[in-house]
Amino acid sequence: MPSRTRDICPRNIELPLFGSRPARPPIHTSAVYHCDSPEQAQLRLADQEPGYVYQRGKHPNAELLSEKCRQLHRADTALITSSGMAAIALALVACLKQGDHVLISNRLYGETGLIVEREFSRFGIESSQVDLLDLDQLPSEFRENTKLVIAETISNPTLRVVDLAGLADLAHQSGALLMVDNTFASPAVCQPLELGADLVVESMSKIMNGHGDLMLGALCVGKQCDQPLQERLVFANRTWGFSGSPMDCWLAERGLVTLFPRVATASATALRVARELGQHAAVREIVYPGLESHPDHELAKRQFDQANAPSDDSPSCLFGHVLTLQLEGGLETATRFIQSLPEIPFCPSLGEPMTTLSHPASTSHRSLTVANREKLGIFPATIRLSIGLESPEFILEALRNSLADLDF
Ligand SMILES: Cc1ncc(COP(=O)(O)O)c(C=O)c1O
Repeated sequence: MPSRTRDICPRNIELPLFGSRPARPPIHTSAVYHCDSPEQAQLRLADQEPGYVYQRGKHPNAELLSEKCRQLHRADTALITSSGMAAIALALVACLKQGDHVLISNRLYGETGLIVEREFSRFGIESSQVDLLDLDQLPSEFRENTKLVIAETISNPTLRVVDLAGLADLAHQSGALLMVDNTFASPAVCQPLELGADLVVESMSKIMNGHGDLMLGALCVGKQCDQPLQERLVFANRTWGFSGSPMDCWLAERGLVTLFPRVATASATALRVARELGQHAAVREIVYPGLESHPDHELAKRQFDQANAPSDDSPSCLFGHVLTLQLEGGLETATRFIQSLPEIPFCPSLGEPMTTLSHPASTSHRSLTVANREKLGIFPATIRLSIGLESPEFILEALRNSLADLDF
């Protein structure tokens, strides 16, 4: 035991727990772990013996979070990454090689499209955008070298729902994998692996964590994915340094404790807001998959998790926490609406505890031309709402007051 001050300071003191079992998991922030012998270090670094050596490779908080994600998606394995985009990059790195082709939805989150089209094209990977809502047209879009199809369960901001089982069949007939970004749904609404997808991405920066205080991603791998792919994913996560930090993993695991009641509450409120605001003169259209008027309502009902249906209400499933308002008018109307709504901040993300709004034309879809935005149903007065945990009455009153200021 050291006696000099300068020797005491850098040394660890190991605190025994005397068999006490903490009710919640600890955070292991250590960047590196002590090894008993060179043999042990080698075995652990090669994943041939359980245990930890270096945080980038694996650490207990990521393992705990990945196990929860694995169970939530009924996956074979789940990998935790430092953001949703890192999970997407990890899948691309591990699944593709020079000369491969990727089919991407024309409604993808903008940066997913950019990483495929701008970044991976530099490594000789081809891609084409397709409308995944029209599965009849799709077979002709596959090429001999198509290895991956990328879709979203619920697209932004018109909340279109893709037939995931049909898409998985088409992808598999052509020898390609289907990767689904499930961020707008979360596993409380939909589990794409159960519908035949091979890989599922979650940006846990959104409703999975639900507290707006971290960035993380998860890549969940279906049971049908072969062992070499699973090994490449684990290897790529470690060597490319995509992995997430212990503190963020610990927080996200804590967020997941309340995932279901948060999504159920926000989805029920979203449905009520969608039903009640549709009547307003200033609102041209309310877009929400839980409304009978939504073009994908029937598909959503079939595809979203029936087991998670609210027991005391009519809907057969949850339809998610995001809804979109198409206001009458243009950019000036949207600006007035946003500025007269202090209760609902303009905050270009989703899945926060409080209700927030976004303006897709100036944020997520700003890089598209006006014509391409309009083709996707995005206009200057399109407002996307991410419903939070406040009462429906609070949200409706705030929205009605702001809509009243628009003088329609
Ligand atoms: C649908 C979707 N996928 C992926 C991402 C990327 O997630 P992250 O911001 O955690 O990298 C986002 C971010 O907004 C998103 O909306």
